Amino acid sequence: MQVPLRPAWLALAEHARSIKHRHLRDLFSADPARFYRYSIQADNLLLDYSKQRLDQHTMGLLRQLAEQAGLRTWIERMRAGEPINHTEGRPVRHADLRAGDTAPSEVKAVLARLAGFCEQIHGGQWRGFSGERITDVVNIGIGGSDLGPRMAVHALAAFQQPDINVHFVSNLDSADLASTLTRLNPRSTLFIVASKTFTTLETMANAGTARNWIVAAAGNEAAIARHFVAASTNLAATAEFGIAPENVFEFWDWVGGRFSLWSAIGLPIALAVGFRHFEQLLAGAHAMDEHFFKAAPDSNLPLTLALVALWNTNFLDAHSQGVFPYSHSLALLPSHLQQLEMESNGKRANRDGLAVDYPTNPILWGAAGTNGQHSFFQLLHQGSELVACDFIALGKSDFPLPGHHSGLLANCLAQSSALAFGQTVDEARVAGIPEHLLPFRRFPGNQPSSTLVLPELTPFTLGQLIALYEHKVFCLGVLWNLNSFDQWGVELGKQLAGKLAPCIRDEAPTDGLDPSTRGLINHLRRFRSTPHD
Ligand code: F6P
Repeated sequence: MQVPLRPAWLALAEHARSIKHRHLRDLFSADPARFYRYSIQADNLLLDYSKQRLDQHTMGLLRQLAEQAGLRTWIERMRAGEPINHTEGRPVRHADLRAGDTAPSEVKAVLARLAGFCEQIHGGQWRGFSGERITDVVNIGIGGSDLGPRMAVHALAAFQQPDINVHFVSNLDSADLASTLTRLNPRSTLFIVASKTFTTLETMANAGTARNWIVAAAGNEAAIARHFVAASTNLAATAEFGIAPENVFEFWDWVGGRFSLWSAIGLPIALAVGFRHFEQLLAGAHAMDEHFFKAAPDSNLPLTLALVALWNTNFLDAHSQGVFPYSHSLALLPSHLQQLEMESNGKRANRDGLAVDYPTNPILWGAAGTNGQHSFFQLLHQGSELVACDFIALGKSDFPLPGHHSGLLANCLAQSSALAFGQTVDEARVAGIPEHLLPFRRFPGNQPSSTLVLPELTPFTLGQLIALYEHKVFCLGVLWNLNSFDQWGVELGKQLAGKLAPCIRDEAPTDGLDPSTRGLINHLRRFRSTPHD
């Protein structure tokens, strides 16, 4: 059945006709208790969704939709290890990676090896080829093998271990690796080659160049064993690269790339903040899993986030989702969520392979507050686009300095309030705005937003936050009848790039190419400096 034919979907479409044009001002004056009615506190997290353009009837219908979509059954199927990623024939078991005492034995075994490895690096027992201790770790990976760990290491800067710096290199552009290596000493640098498949072009190219850098400095290949470890599911390929089996931290094909920071892919996090803190990150995510699996629909945080997102996307026509953490440490969260949400649910074929005739994942973007206020917030306040916004605030600063945090919070709340309620011409007049400027000082408001409050940013609360969005993605996949766990769309560009590279090097004819690509290649060939670059 196509999703829109579900009875609750049809009822929502009907209901949307009456509520769509109501202003948040009206909704709040009709119900001053909105904050209490539309906020959920679970564990230590608060979600206020009272500034969303919905009422109790909306939420009732949305919850009915989740029931009609069989959400409970899908959760059970995921937990039972059924291959719900049916186009790849794989189960979806990332929650098992953070299940603590109840985690599978193979997960516990890898965690124990990671703990031992961190101890050797932090304790200085692991030495480079010349006997120096490791001071710098470079994670080479891309997509899910980069964004999650990079975001978490940045987010947990307050927990940074002394004497170790963790760097991330992802881009095929040699500027990324080269600019990182110029700051490093090969004698004290360790590389983690992070790749689920160990075939990804960017990662293999960067890893190969890094290997040459180490071999050139050491004068022999034996140094590779002291300077390279890998996180991968492909043990044959790691061996072929020359990484000793004892230096490979395994994970499994039932871990999706964008859900993999809880696996061996999280090694850079554990090295940056210490294994104990990495375990707390896992524990926070596990707490969110338990909440998601057990909480009733009306107090379920991930489900509520998903239902609100579906309402905004499919019934209010908001095709853009902004994420604004008012936390400098969470500045990379929007990039991680971009992959998590857009690679998971940016799809147009449903689970049966039929074309969907309803919008799926909106475009997700964002930046840390208050910086965003001085760039794109103008469009949110007075532009013509409806943008659903998530604000994220911390109860306490992770780097407290007098006077900063209250100002930061004031700005966060001011933005969501201004976006919701705007300013009428009359209010501008009363505020003393000259008559000729009144049209420019009108703010329509009615931009929907939710605000998430974390008491503080710790490994535990970060784990909760990431897992919250992961389960939101899962719920939306069920509601939109999509497989959220494959990513076929990424393939086409990869295949084409493979065909074009020899053309750019002048090693293959350009005859069969489209005229634009052919023209660009001919133009670009003029700039090539060396035959092999
Ligand atoms: O971008 C496509 C993708 O397959 C992601 O899903 C994945 O996170 C990334 O490439 C990296 O893949 P790998 O870890 O296998 O190198």
